[in-house]
Amino acid sequence: MYAARQLLHTVEDSNSCLNQGDLLNLIKNRRSVRKYQKMKPSLSEIDRIINCAIYAPSAHNAQPWRFTIVSDEKKKRELAEQMAVRFQQDLKKDSLPKAVIGKKIQRSVRLFSDAPVVIIACIDMTRMDKYPDLARQQAEMIMATQSLAAAIQNLLLAAKAVGLGGCWYCAPLFCPELVKTVLSLPDAHIPQALITLGNPAENPPVPPRFQLDEIRFIL
Ligand SMILES: Cc1cc2nc3c(=O)[nH]c(=O)nc-3n(C[C@H](O)[C@H](O)[C@H](O)COP(=O)(O)O)c2cc1C
Repeated sequence: MYAARQLLHTVEDSNSCLNQGDLLNLIKNRRSVRKYQKMKPSLSEIDRIINCAIYAPSAHNAQPWRFTIVSDEKKKRELAEQMAVRFQQDLKKDSLPKAVIGKKIQRSVRLFSDAPVVIIACIDMTRMDKYPDLARQQAEMIMATQSLAAAIQNLLLAAKAVGLGGCWYCAPLFCPELVKTVLSLPDAHIPQALITLGNPAENPPVPPRFQLDEIRFIL
């Protein structure tokens, strides 16, 4: 009883410390940053923001998120180049002109290898529920992915709060096995996203947003 009161007290304390205006502004002012200064964030800075990611809500509180930090320049470039090879194969299937493919590939390698740090965000289904039927199993997979997405958003907001910038990329979704092989990830890790991270070298404008009454419905 005493412990519960203490906990509540702590929660209330942390609530009362919260400057709501600051938090709402942080959420609205977060932008996807794709250009960075050379300087790398320290491991303790990165750990600090990942430590915020793990406070996201998750289905069954299974916390299916796993984050692998790629800071080593050689490894990061190898990952970027290998992913670009796969990207190129996919683009060729779309019958795009050679020049367009070349530009896209170059951009992709540059975005990932120039970023000071890359984080591979994975799901791990080990602690999620298991079902014999496909429909419920797929729902579990979606729940794990949604949980990871909430954690990534926390991570990006925490990065913004400490003055870093980040961008969320879907590239690993198209070559999860390749990412696992290049980075020697554990078998249970299923790559879902790549997040670039660093000190911002740009201040991007807000991409257009729908108006509230276009996306909110009242019954
Ligand atoms: C699931 C997901 C995948 C994304 N993939 C990419 C991507 O592959 N390349 C990219 O440049 N940005 C990517 N982004 C970033 C979006 O382009 C960006 O969030 C959107 O344009 C809104 O801009 P803002 O983040 O600055 O508000 C992705 C974002 C999400 C949530």
